[in-house]
Amino acid sequence: MTPATSSTTLAELRDREFAAVTSRGAYLNSASTGPQPASALRALEEANRDRGDPVRWTVERANATLDRSRALAAQLIGADADEIALMPNTTTGINVAAWALPLERGDVILTFDREFPTNIYPWLARGRDGVVLERIPVTENGWPDEARLMARLGEPRVRGVCVSLTQFSTGYTVDLEALSRATRATGTWLIVDAIQGMGQVPVDVRRTPVDFLASGAQKWLLSPWGTGFLHVLRGLGRVPRHRRLLAADRLRPGALARRAPVRGVHAPGAGFRGDERRAGTAARRRGPGDRRACAGDHGAAARRGFPGGGAHHLAG
Ligand SMILES: Cc1ncc(COP(=O)(O)O)c(C=O)c1O
Repeated sequence: MTPATSSTTLAELRDREFAAVTSRGAYLNSASTGPQPASALRALEEANRDRGDPVRWTVERANATLDRSRALAAQLIGADADEIALMPNTTTGINVAAWALPLERGDVILTFDREFPTNIYPWLARGRDGVVLERIPVTENGWPDEARLMARLGEPRVRGVCVSLTQFSTGYTVDLEALSRATRATGTWLIVDAIQGMGQVPVDVRRTPVDFLASGAQKWLLSPWGTGFLHVLRGLGRVPRHRRLLAADRLRPGALARRAPVRGVHAPGAGFRGDERRAGTAARRRGPGDRRACAGDHGAAARRGFPGGGAHHLAG
């Protein structure tokens, strides 16, 4: 999507990029899927067309597309590109966090009651290792009880917090700054499902560190299904309380991309060396069903830093 310049009005931008939606009246999104701007659709069509021609769809072009997507996702949240692994959706990113963390029997992960299942099932699955997921009851209003959750931080068995940045059912947005500060102070991992916030709620992980931040791009980043990213904080393994993570190399995003949950997405046994480029290469080896290679350039919102928010408010 071409960014709005000072001379472009919101109405012009809406007509240019979202005519299919707005010609039929107001678009009231229901927290499900964002519309794709015309420019993103064009880019998709072009990529799909060229994909049939190996001369046009070169390794260099595919690599550049993936690298650019990673850099733009990083820019969106104030991270560095080497802290970003491209993901097919939010859920895969949260699963990577759940299976990468060296949790032990009796370790507790806190979340809120009424969270989206993405933030529940990966941790329940780790129940097989004795990990316990505790859901903090909501307030009288049905909102996440942040104070109650924070009061639990620092307890010896509480090792992590996994919450949505913005709740899917109420739109409640957590105080990420307070949560980040409290988890830093107590050596607790913070895992954030950011999909309902990305494109609407500014996030700067340099100012407000989050250990894992996962987001699909199909909502307010206005991108195709099958696109998204996982941010893994550099230095994650150096939190003193988690000395066992000093094999921190394992937690570089590129290295993570070859871990179990992603194996079905990337080609299995593709000989990764653990850097992002290799992981990207494997993704491109997947063949005809490969959504990411086609779609990688269309983290449409990421493209300009933050266009999704404007477009969304326009529509809403
Ligand atoms: C808070 C939240 N997390 C995750 C998802 C789904 O994420 P994905 O399909 O990208 O895995 C949704 C979708 O509605 C959601 O609202």
